[in-house]
Amino acid sequence: MSRLTGRLVVASHNTGKVREIAALLGPFGVEPVSAGELGLPEPEETETTFTGNAALKARAAALASGLPALADDSGLEVFAIGGDPGVYSARWAGPNKDFGAAMRRVWEELSASGNDRGARFVCALALAQPDGGVEVFEGEARGTIVWPPRGEKGFGYDPIFVPEGLTRTFGEMTHDEKLPLTHRARAFEKLVASLK
Ligand code: IMP
Repeated sequence: MSRLTGRLVVASHNTGKVREIAALLGPFGVEPVSAGELGLPEPEETETTFTGNAALKARAAALASGLPALADDSGLEVFAIGGDPGVYSARWAGPNKDFGAAMRRVWEELSASGNDRGARFVCALALAQPDGGVEVFEGEARGTIVWPPRGEKGFGYDPIFVPEGLTRTFGEMTHDEKLPLTHRARAFEKLVASLK
């Protein structure tokens, strides 16, 4: 567990994600500090893959802070519309972070494309060291898209996503119910396994 101890920057300005990552780190005695708390700038996500963007964010935070940094790049891929919004999941909500509008766009494009409602959330988790070394781990959560949105508990696209084998949306689940089912938890399990 040598690389997951002490202070660690959670390189995200998204409070929903920071909360989930901090909960995953809980059992390791790590002291998470968010990029926002340290006043670190948010780098532009210029890559076209989750892995590329996660590595870019983690490396920028580790170099700027001199601490190990963990970054997540994640999003929703809807199969029938070519994997959109994918790495553009945050951008579909626009500058005002209007996820009501982003979810409606997903549903409208999906409705126009046929009957396949299959989707997955993807998370790439990158752990960067201040010397520039980076490792990236990917996890997914498969499910289906539903309409209208249900539940107020989550963030982003949670209200239109029902995980495989279940009936409630992520938005209808408590934080503790959702977390173990997530793409983020699955990527984190791989990261932990790599440290053993
Ligand atoms: P980014 O990784 O900062 O580019 O943003 C990813 C976007 O994907 C977030 O703003 C959310 O809208 C969406 N997203 C990622 N993970 C989740 C999740 O667990 N639930 C709902 N939406 C998510």
